Amino acid sequence: MTKVLLTGGAGFIGSHTCLALLEAGHRLVVIDDFSNGSPEALRRVSALAGLGGWRQLSPERWAAGDGPSARFTLLKGDVRSPRDLDRAFGVGEETGGGGIGAVLHFAGLKAVGESMGQPLSYWDVNVVGAVRLLEAMDRHGCRTLVFSSSATLYGITDRVPIPETAPLQPINPYGYTKAAVERMLADVAASACGWRIALLRYFNPVGAHPSGRIGEDPSGPPNNLFPYLCQVAAGRRQRLEVFGGDWPTPDGTGVRDYLHVMDLVEGHGRALEVLETEPPQLLTLNLGSGCGHSVLDLVRSFETTNGLTLPYVVVDRRPGDSAISVADPREAERRMGWRTRRSLADICRDGWAWQSANPEGYRSTEEQPGRAL
Ligand code: WQD
Repeated sequence: MTKVLLTGGAGFIGSHTCLALLEAGHRLVVIDDFSNGSPEALRRVSALAGLGGWRQLSPERWAAGDGPSARFTLLKGDVRSPRDLDRAFGVGEETGGGGIGAVLHFAGLKAVGESMGQPLSYWDVNVVGAVRLLEAMDRHGCRTLVFSSSATLYGITDRVPIPETAPLQPINPYGYTKAAVERMLADVAASACGWRIALLRYFNPVGAHPSGRIGEDPSGPPNNLFPYLCQVAAGRRQRLEVFGGDWPTPDGTGVRDYLHVMDLVEGHGRALEVLETEPPQLLTLNLGSGCGHSVLDLVRSFETTNGLTLPYVVVDRRPGDSAISVADPREAERRMGWRTRRSLADICRDGWAWQSANPEGYRSTEEQPGRAL
């Protein structure tokens, strides 16, 4: 089984992917700065995977030469730091069984609204971080990469559903950074032989692992609809603000392609298999359901599925938003036999199971992030 490095592995998508890869028998090294992820999430992943303990290696602990555990190592670090990246690749090399064979790059900033106010942070973390990661991969002879891209890079398009061939015309800094990294990765793939790269364009990943033990737990007030809606249901937020009731959509609210996080995770597993079994290539795929649902559709489904009422108010549109974003998912099915299997009701059920069991997310149970064991 491949030894895999996950950047941002303590975050929402990263932690769910860690669990699936551990269950598939992979050995993992995670690097995360905990800016939007939690060590507690990975403690729970380790328990769910039946691994028991895991070792969090703080820089101090690492300097002391503390050896990582065999199958699952967490390193507090920043993908913009060559030193932190070399430590992460070094963990892979020193724990036997060969070095890191593949990288899943989740680390990055990912909120449309936030990027409008903090463009420089988005260019630094998302683009400089990706450059540093590719340099480290090259130093350590690792040329297999799955990149967490985003449908946001399509921007406003009159094509619904959106195929991978649609023009990239981002309308916010977040989308521009994803398009820039995709361009860089395409250049790298074309410049040297042997690179195996998958660009996975996420539509709207939501929900949680059906165990209710891990889920989405953003730092601070959620920028995205589903986690905010879950926190309203849990009483952490007073009401949901619906950004715009005058969009050119059936009920006037924004339409998106929501996919269950576990479907998204399965898409990563398939992409990794394709990269490892086929000749070197650049694979660009939408990961979405192909079905569009409005904000109010999601509210209604959440209420019906979970037997509760969600208070909301319709307010002005959010800058940087588009009316409709729905995937054409046929290429992912053609190239890797992947499609979503879970419904909107599954999303709402699993999302609520997580939030209702963890009203304060991981914060109520985690130790101080970054503190060594
Ligand atoms: C969804 C809809 C809002 C919040 C996201 C991520 C991005 C990317 C694509 C992965 C829109 C409306 C939202 C709220 C609302 N995913 N909304 N009230 O903007 O489509 O992009 O998915 O890379 O990471 O940002 O998702 O959840 O922010 O918005 O009415 O409090 O919900 O206007 O129509 P978005 P979102």
